[in-house]
Amino acid sequence: MCGIIGYSGSFCAQKILLDGLEQLEYRGYDSAGVALLDDQGELFLQKKAGRVSVLRKACEAAPVKSRCGIGHTRWATHGGVTDANAHPHSCGQVTLIHNGIIENYHEITAAFGFQDRLHSETDTEVAACLLDHLYRGNPFETLKKAVDILVGSYAFCILFKDRPGQIFCIRNVSPLVAAQGEAGSFVASDLTALIAHSRSYFVVPEKTVMTLSADRITLLDLNGQTMEPECLTVDWNVESAQKGGYPHFMIKEINEQPQAMENTVRPRLFNGLPDFREEGVEDSLFLDCETITIVACGTAMYAGMVGKAIIEQILHIPVAVHIASEFRYDTPLINEKTLTIVISQSGETIDTLAALRLAKECGSRTLAIVNVKGSTIARESDYVLYTHAGPEIAVASTKAYIVQLAVLYLLTGRIALLRGIFTEKQAKEFMDTLLSASSSIAQVIQKDEAIKKAVKAVKHSDHAFFIGRGLDYAFSLEGALKLKEISYIHAEAYAAGELKHGTIALIEKNTPVIALATQEKIFAKTISNIREVRARGASVILIVKENAQVDPDVYDIRIDLPVRQDEFAVFTAAATLQLLAYYTSDAKGLNVDKPRNLAKSVTVE
Ligand code: F6R
Repeated sequence: MCGIIGYSGSFCAQKILLDGLEQLEYRGYDSAGVALLDDQGELFLQKKAGRVSVLRKACEAAPVKSRCGIGHTRWATHGGVTDANAHPHSCGQVTLIHNGIIENYHEITAAFGFQDRLHSETDTEVAACLLDHLYRGNPFETLKKAVDILVGSYAFCILFKDRPGQIFCIRNVSPLVAAQGEAGSFVASDLTALIAHSRSYFVVPEKTVMTLSADRITLLDLNGQTMEPECLTVDWNVESAQKGGYPHFMIKEINEQPQAMENTVRPRLFNGLPDFREEGVEDSLFLDCETITIVACGTAMYAGMVGKAIIEQILHIPVAVHIASEFRYDTPLINEKTLTIVISQSGETIDTLAALRLAKECGSRTLAIVNVKGSTIARESDYVLYTHAGPEIAVASTKAYIVQLAVLYLLTGRIALLRGIFTEKQAKEFMDTLLSASSSIAQVIQKDEAIKKAVKAVKHSDHAFFIGRGLDYAFSLEGALKLKEISYIHAEAYAAGELKHGTIALIEKNTPVIALATQEKIFAKTISNIREVRARGASVILIVKENAQVDPDVYDIRIDLPVRQDEFAVFTAAATLQLLAYYTSDAKGLNVDKPRNLAKSVTVE
């Protein structure tokens, strides 16, 4: 959420910043801006509401020769989408960009009398005024004092006019990574902006003053002690973060799912059996726990809902799934007998991070399922299992969801084995079926005619309902989220048996109902519920296993899933629902990868 980049080196900063902002644009695309400081200390500021392309045009009309600067792409929190609210913000000697929220900006404004100095509605400009107010020629002392005053989350990159060629950075919670490349020194919100320049990088430690100069990066803790960064190596390449011939990142990422499944599952199988000990995840974690709590947001939380259904069904361990933003302010009923699993693609979602910290405070052991290596959640949890999806750029999550599920299935297999619920033979079969899900996903992607037919029934509608029971209900939650976030069709998921308690009042002639009926044990019940909506005029898109016997009167369009085992239907169902959302959004001519109002990596509360 908000992309930030800084560069000091020997090349044209304007070009490097604009290229980097294009890579970071998925973090926010309400407005963008750059500030460049030349060798004489002259500052050039350019910022525009709208996409990075708008900023690029303005910059190209007024090129600046500077080898040091900062750039920002914004996801608006405080203040509307205007040029004035776009970053960077300047005040006196200070120009800065910010990701995060300064919670006490009203108090700071009043306490220091900044009212007349502000030209925007943002919390960030208040921080710029504060730093300028504190500045006496020593950036380190200024930032040290500011840390005591600022409340909230922040990652700042700061230019001081009398320090040409240098960028000062400090962060609290909000992410920042940095790298020293051949072309100079770089800092950014995430690796996508750095990978073109260096494969080696480090996570900027919290509350540490980092100084970027053309030839070095230095880190000082707030006591003034030099710190050595812990260097990491990027394990994916530039191409992974590019479209590679696909029209959109989302469809590319849907197509990458079979490989992502392979990469996530196969290295964890030893003689066909799941094992995490090589990754440092001890079996005692699974043997000692009496209950499991899963905490996450959005799609990751819906992966947790499927995990709950599978774990309870197979392991009979009670599982509670919580929305992280609720959990962190609720009464957490967890203790040392609870295994808390947090799930996050980015590993930076602030609510999930806060939930993780709370779980640890309560004495619970914590296991993170995370995609981004070295991310805050990965570093702070007791144990981590990485998903190996590679970078996910489309705002709507697809491949990350699939591999989150894969890890939850692997965990289920491991725990079942450890607790004697599965024999080795059963565990192997379970894992074989999990592995085969990747080829079933590939089949769904190749044979998508019925899905495209369904798009025609959905795309002109203002509303759509997703219904199912049991596991089908858990999948339909994610299906509805995908459709609403990229096609702007109001979509709701309901437990099929619950409709008649109110929601069925909304069904009228031609309302699309996407009905999932993949679970044998409740198949007949689901079909009855489908008949109820059909009797009220709904246009039914039925999603079933390919061998299912269904009366053709029940549906308008039937989509067959190439799957036989009920527990594994989620993988093909998810790919189907992702494609339905993707093709619908594309058919409506919408921006599939960057839907309105959203951003990837939600680092504000
Ligand atoms: C929806 C989507 C979001 C994320 C949620 C959590 O397609 O991507 O709902 O799943 O913001 O993000 P992470 O997984 O990064 O914690």
